[in-house]
Amino acid sequence: MTVVVTGGAGFIGSNFIFYMRDRHPGYRIICVDSLTYAGNLSTLEPVMNHPGFRFVRASITDSAAMERLFAEEKPDIVVNFAAESHVDRSIENPSVFLETNVLGTQVLMDACRKSGVGRFHQVSTDEVYGDLPLDRPELFFTEATPLHASSPYSASKAAADLLVLAYHRTFGLPATISRCSNNYGPYQFPEKLIPLMLINALEEKALPVYGTGENVRDWLYVEDHCCAIDRILHDGRVGETYNIGGHNEMKNIEIVKLICKELGKPESLISFVEDRKGHDMRYAIDPAKMQKELGWLPQTKFSEGILKTIRWYLEHRAWWEAIRNGEYQGMIQEECAGGQEREGFDGV
Ligand code: NAD
Ligand code: TYD
Repeated sequence: MTVVVTGGAGFIGSNFIFYMRDRHPGYRIICVDSLTYAGNLSTLEPVMNHPGFRFVRASITDSAAMERLFAEEKPDIVVNFAAESHVDRSIENPSVFLETNVLGTQVLMDACRKSGVGRFHQVSTDEVYGDLPLDRPELFFTEATPLHASSPYSASKAAADLLVLAYHRTFGLPATISRCSNNYGPYQFPEKLIPLMLINALEEKALPVYGTGENVRDWLYVEDHCCAIDRILHDGRVGETYNIGGHNEMKNIEIVKLICKELGKPESLISFVEDRKGHDMRYAIDPAKMQKELGWLPQTKFSEGILKTIRWYLEHRAWWEAIRNGEYQGMIQEECAGGQEREGFDGV
């Protein structure tokens, strides 16, 4: 089995590569990543020299590169994690979100059609459903909830989802979609809530909470997300969408206070700042379809997962310090310069 994982130098994609290597050691895994600011080659160090692994530096928007690669590798499965993923950046500069998230998905699916890929899986988000009100706790997003995106990020992901369904219906592309809630865990880029607050707290810097901090997110440990995708790849039905979440809703302010408590830092570091434009109030996934059809259930409770995550950031200071001081991008230049000589590395 040959699996192409796009965006594998990012947070969830890298965790997925590690998960698949452990669960399916016989699979060949090809990571395609253009190494934007969010991609980090050092993350992939543990697999870089593995014989069943190949890294290709390329953009999913580059149709010639994708077609060439797919013709050469003949992948059985393509899992698309590659995306611009940060809502705040999408508010500052929407265009790259449309290029990567929408056009990149189209380019990938065309390459899949040409080379006859057996499964295209689109990694989407619960944010395509918009938000839920805080005063209706009985409401959840199901797969039938209408798409109602709020930010340029979520609108680009919703557009990609519609394209995937259209390619399935029009061209018979064997595609599946998963829509997951907020992930947390190792290797998350420190622009997102949990790693940002963790690292700022460690450095005793201000903890910028948007608005009142009452916004609710439904948190899932990243490994549980990887496991769910693996289940869909093997037993999911083509043309179907699966919601992934663990019924773990928390207010942002609760998370930030918890991080302060666990790190022994004062809550006086918390600073309420101007709210995000169009800020979604509440996300909450109903994962019943994943449970009933695929027998998937999350394995990591938030109380355990957050401690594991805090420990990981404490034990991997060098990883995030290189991001904070920009050195991780220097490493990318170095790798690309001498890349052809390295087993597993392929800078196209
Ligand atoms: P991330 O920002 O950490 O990683 C994205 C990766 O994609 C990076 O390695 C980046 O270099 C790469 N990339 C960006 N543009 C590319 C391009 N044009 N070609 C090739 N590679 C490119 O993102 P993440 O948090 O790991 O999210 C991965 C996917 O999961 C995204 O599609 C996102 O929408 C989705 N998702 C994320 C969450 C979450 O909580 N983080 C929740 C649900 C769904
Ligand atoms: P984020 O991690 O950006 O994920 P998303 O917007 O995709 O849910 O943000 C999670 C929540 O935390 C969201 O409600 C915005 C809030 N937030 C802050 O309050 N301060 C911050 O500095 C960041 C990055 C996020």
